[in-house]
Amino acid sequence: MMQEYAVGITGIGSYLPEKEVTNFDIEKMVDTTDEWIRTRTGISCRRVADERVATSDLSTEAAKRALADAGIEAAELDLIIVATVTPDMAFPSTACIVQSNIKAVKAAAFDIEAACSGFLYAMTVGQQFIKNGFYKNVLIIGAETLSKVVDWEDRNTCVLFGDGAGAVVLQRVEEGYGILSSYLGADGFNGSALAQPGGGSRIPATIESVTNKLHFVKMDGSEVFKFAVRVMGKAAMEALELCGLTLEDIDFMIPHQANIRIIDAAAKRLKLPMEKVYVNLDRYGNMSAASVPVALDEAVRENRIKKGDIVVLVAFGGGLTWGSSVLKWSK
Ligand code: ACO
Repeated sequence: MMQEYAVGITGIGSYLPEKEVTNFDIEKMVDTTDEWIRTRTGISCRRVADERVATSDLSTEAAKRALADAGIEAAELDLIIVATVTPDMAFPSTACIVQSNIKAVKAAAFDIEAACSGFLYAMTVGQQFIKNGFYKNVLIIGAETLSKVVDWEDRNTCVLFGDGAGAVVLQRVEEGYGILSSYLGADGFNGSALAQPGGGSRIPATIESVTNKLHFVKMDGSEVFKFAVRVMGKAAMEALELCGLTLEDIDFMIPHQANIRIIDAAAKRLKLPMEKVYVNLDRYGNMSAASVPVALDEAVRENRIKKGDIVVLVAFGGGLTWGSSVLKWSK
């Protein structure tokens, strides 16, 4: 039988644009209130990238921090995967742009698109290359500039999102540590609940498509809400079962940061007190593929996670998609 290696996160970093947009700022743009946004979502503030800043710029900064944390050079990387729904452009991939920025001369590079579940999809894909011995050093980035594809005149969506990037380095780790299991799923049948319909091959960019705002995020909020509540707890439990653990084994959970009511519902279902659940959506909103790695980075830096802890990462998003991973923290 082929030898399999244990794979874990050996470096982590994140980067957020400096500019903060508060609910009070948004009150001046659309018919909403700070009170509505806070009570319905838990969000108070979000970061917004400068108009000249693209997803690869945020990714590059997060990548440098993760590489420094892992203590490796970019030139040692074998593979870069960027998870994003807001690439710099259709092609070249954002991963290729990052490769050039950080001078990862020998790395292969590609993007993965699974919306807010993208980081967990990308980490699971990247893990396979190390597990089977094909690669040693893999960089996974979750990065978004959703501010660029949100209609700032649509109160249903513009209050929800923020920009940011998180990155991890995956390498071989001590046996029994690292990524113990992952569970990914998709429901393309209900994909239209969350979409950016314009700008692709179905509705290419025309003056009419732009006038009709088809290049902005469209969302059936209550459908996504119901789906999210159903799938978050289930995804976490499936991943636990795959590695033979139970709810009692969870030391910490990093959920996708979309809505505090969705996180509360998932925590209840998993019988987890909120002290074991990381929340930063009040400060950053929903950063799609960046939410999980940014939250994980902050949790690590705040010493909320220590070596040997069982950490559950769980996300849901457009596609529709979902993903979860159970880690035994190895640093
Ligand atoms: N300010 C004031 N009122 C608002 C706002 C706002 N910003 N947004 C919506 N409303 C109104 C609606 O128009 C509606 O009014 P109506 O009843 O007169 O039509 C009313 O508030 C209630 O709307 P609901 O949809 O019932 O509100 P709900 O409690 O469901 O909260 C929300 C809406 C926050 C969008 C919630 O449904 C949600 O969080 N859904 C999940 C969103 C999500 O997770 N998206 C992830 C996508 S990320 C990705 O994959 C890229």
